[in-house]
Amino acid sequence: MVVSANTFRSVMGHFATGVTVVTLNCDGVDHGMTVNSFASVSLDPPLVLFNADEETNTHDMIPQAGNFAVNILTQKQEWLSNRFAGEHHKMDDPFEDVPVFRAATGAPVLEDTLAYIDCTLEESYPGGDHTIYIGHVEDLGLQQSEENPLTFYTGSYGSID
Ligand SMILES: Cc1cc2nc3c(=O)[nH]c(=O)nc-3n(C[C@H](O)[C@H](O)[C@H](O)COP(=O)(O)O)c2cc1C
Repeated sequence: MVVSANTFRSVMGHFATGVTVVTLNCDGVDHGMTVNSFASVSLDPPLVLFNADEETNTHDMIPQAGNFAVNILTQKQEWLSNRFAGEHHKMDDPFEDVPVFRAATGAPVLEDTLAYIDCTLEESYPGGDHTIYIGHVEDLGLQQSEENPLTFYTGSYGSID
């Protein structure tokens, strides 16, 4: 069967996900990208993954940085998802109005998210036109317990109670 890109996107879009921003610090410069391909991999050792399109800046920056943080967004942070899904390409400093702190690796961790997972790059594997990046969890934490998660389903944002 020949799988068309439109059909693939449409079917995969029916898998409801949360929304994260993957952040990193590469040679002293902070960078971020909106990501919903995040998943937990292993408990012992603690590993997580996300997939980066070869066309993205993040794809090339991750191996150089050697670290990344996954920031799980709340319903109120749709603007951060939009920011790091393309708006940031037109900005001098996409972090200018985004409060961050540093955890273990030096990657910028966004304040007031649901949770963060701060990782060193453990492994990378080719995955078609994407690369699968595996991170070893160095630090993690919960931030907002009262907020609902931002979700992504069939190309639209939503939330759940
Ligand atoms: C909800 C959502 C989820 C996304 N998930 C991914 C993803 O998992 N991997 C990816 O490579 N791009 C993903 N993108 C697209 C990137 O965020 C977008 O291409 C971004 O502009 C890349 O930034 P960069 O080139 O500065 O790294 C997603 C976009 C949205 C809106």
